[in-house]
Amino acid sequence: MNAAVKQLSHAQAAQEIAALSDEIRAHDKRYYQQDTPNISDAEYDKLRLRLEALEEQFPDLVQPDSPTQKVGAAPSETFSKTRHSKPMLSLGNAFTQEDIEEFIARVRRFLELPEDVLMALVCEPKIDGLSFTARYEKGMLTLGATRGDGEVGENITENLKTLLPLELKGSPPDILEVRGEVYMSKRDFAALNQTRLQEEEPLFANPRNAAAGSLRQLDPRITRSRALSYFVYGWGGLSAPLAATQAGSIAKLHSFGLTTNPQMRTLTTLHEVMEFYSAIGDQRSALDYDIDGVVYKIDNLDYQARLGQVARAPRWAIAHKFPAEQAVTKLEAIEIQVGRTGTLTPVARLTPITVGGVVVSNATLHNQDEIERKDVRVGDMVTIQRAGDVIPQVVGVRTDMPRGQVAYAFPTTCPVCGSHAVRPEGEVARRCTGGLTCAAQAVERLKHFASRNAMDIDGLGDKQIEAFFHEGLIRNPADIFTLEARDADGLTRLKNREGWGEKSAGNLFASIEKAEKVSLGRFIFALGIRHVGEETSKLLARNFITFEAWREAMMDDGAREVLLLIDGIGETVADALIEFFAEEHNQELLATLAGMLAIQPYERPARLDSPVAGKTVVFTGTLEMIGRKEAKALAESLGAKVASSVSKKTDYVVAGSDAGSKLKEATALGVTVLSEEEWMKLIGRSNA
Ligand code: IVH
Repeated sequence: MNAAVKQLSHAQAAQEIAALSDEIRAHDKRYYQQDTPNISDAEYDKLRLRLEALEEQFPDLVQPDSPTQKVGAAPSETFSKTRHSKPMLSLGNAFTQEDIEEFIARVRRFLELPEDVLMALVCEPKIDGLSFTARYEKGMLTLGATRGDGEVGENITENLKTLLPLELKGSPPDILEVRGEVYMSKRDFAALNQTRLQEEEPLFANPRNAAAGSLRQLDPRITRSRALSYFVYGWGGLSAPLAATQAGSIAKLHSFGLTTNPQMRTLTTLHEVMEFYSAIGDQRSALDYDIDGVVYKIDNLDYQARLGQVARAPRWAIAHKFPAEQAVTKLEAIEIQVGRTGTLTPVARLTPITVGGVVVSNATLHNQDEIERKDVRVGDMVTIQRAGDVIPQVVGVRTDMPRGQVAYAFPTTCPVCGSHAVRPEGEVARRCTGGLTCAAQAVERLKHFASRNAMDIDGLGDKQIEAFFHEGLIRNPADIFTLEARDADGLTRLKNREGWGEKSAGNLFASIEKAEKVSLGRFIFALGIRHVGEETSKLLARNFITFEAWREAMMDDGAREVLLLIDGIGETVADALIEFFAEEHNQELLATLAGMLAIQPYERPARLDSPVAGKTVVFTGTLEMIGRKEAKALAESLGAKVASSVSKKTDYVVAGSDAGSKLKEATALGVTVLSEEEWMKLIGRSNA
């Protein structure tokens, strides 16, 4: 290959080496930092080969900063990760006035707050952007991050510095983490796309995507060149409280020079809240930023602290979403997709139409019953809707418009593998019985395995997996991790594929290698076990800590009982896990993967300053100071485990008035019994 170098003079070679190096560096920048490569991998490889050949011939001309000297060490491909000091939560959704009434009632019940005690709500628009957190130390911006999975985000400090104040005014607490939303205004979005159109660059679909694309730039200069805005709506860690209320705290943040939403109001009645919701809805299109609803937060911070959170959302806040945007278009065809677990899902192929700023050409039809109930036929005009990030849906048929002729017959065999598709009694889904012999299921499982929230293998997206599967390069998850070795043996030759080169193959191998170190929670999720989603996977990791402990427990005869003891795991999940482990080929796969990967044990978040962390508590009798639910949530938030029956493993029984048999059992077993006051004192919540 290197023979192609013509005889050049030393000076000519020096000149060409310099020019090639510059050119390659420019392409690296476009590829790694701007996501806009403008040559093919093959062309890029040619440039590199030419440079390598010249350098081989003129070794004295090799520059220390030559692109050939940093193979695979292209400018950091990703942002570094940072763990949030407090998790970044999401919000529960509400759609109707009843949902809001129910929210308010729930809060009152939890706090045991009588009807006549007013409960103020802070109301503000819900910005459709990207959440961020920014840490100020002694008033200086020191760290900024994306939300990520809520626990760990990407370090985007340099990018946030291009839009947030570097230094705060007034006297902020020594440590102040502010949280809010970054967005691109509609005006700036239009201007950006106008420029991109002129420069023949791909357009952004909507302001949110433009903001995301601009914020997640490895080169902060690019972020700076894009007009981004932000609103601060809350906070994370603080060295001192800002105020006693949400509204007071936001006013403080504003006084430090941070931008807060001027639309924010503090309201006290349901009537006012609903009026606020309609008023903001009316202004929606006139606002210069996209919103998808309004957010209500309990104003009193003492209440907020007591309410705490459930799963990943605070009990003290809720998002009141605007109705989904709708449009009418023609149903061209119904296609059946086969999912990871064999479910046949009907998908509507539509005449493309713009809904809420996005072009929609597919929508879900859910299942057989839905199609029958709505009598959806190919050729119908259908109403579709899309809300937020959810998949667009077919809402119904326009019976006042020309109709399709033939009623739709749902297939009873799998369109991919031809196996019978059965529908068990009482279930809505029809499922292919082909199991792993069905290519669709195998491919979907692989896609899930490699996906972002699972093994997170960059560069192994849906398209690549489909291609690799059909060519037999990757048939099961373990094949992914032998790809590089097989490639080196000349079995696959990734770099000779169309659209691939040395660089893209190298990148893929690097990200596969990176994925080998994986947390137990992600690994469990990646297996794609039925009913075992992200939260359940984390729960399993939290309970079993190591892969080995989990595997052993699942293979044990008592697995079902052990699983059911875990708060948050019910019969469906337990059965699905047992079913998974009962299959020999799953056990084999696990053993193979465990040998190839470095599955990291679960790391307990540090919070062990609490005196009851790790203790098991049983509440009994009537509690006077706080309600039973709140007592349980509070104990759990301090790291204690709340059990419903007394055993030798119980550390404390907290006895309210009228405590009965549990108190007796505790005394018999010699378990420490505390009065409610003593308990509150122990956890530092007593005023006494
Ligand atoms: S409060 C504890 N207020 O909505 C969570 N969130 O769906 C506090 N969002 O991840 C969130 N505008 O990024 C809050 N005015 C607002 C918001 C807002 C947008 C986002 C936020 C959150 C997501 C939840």
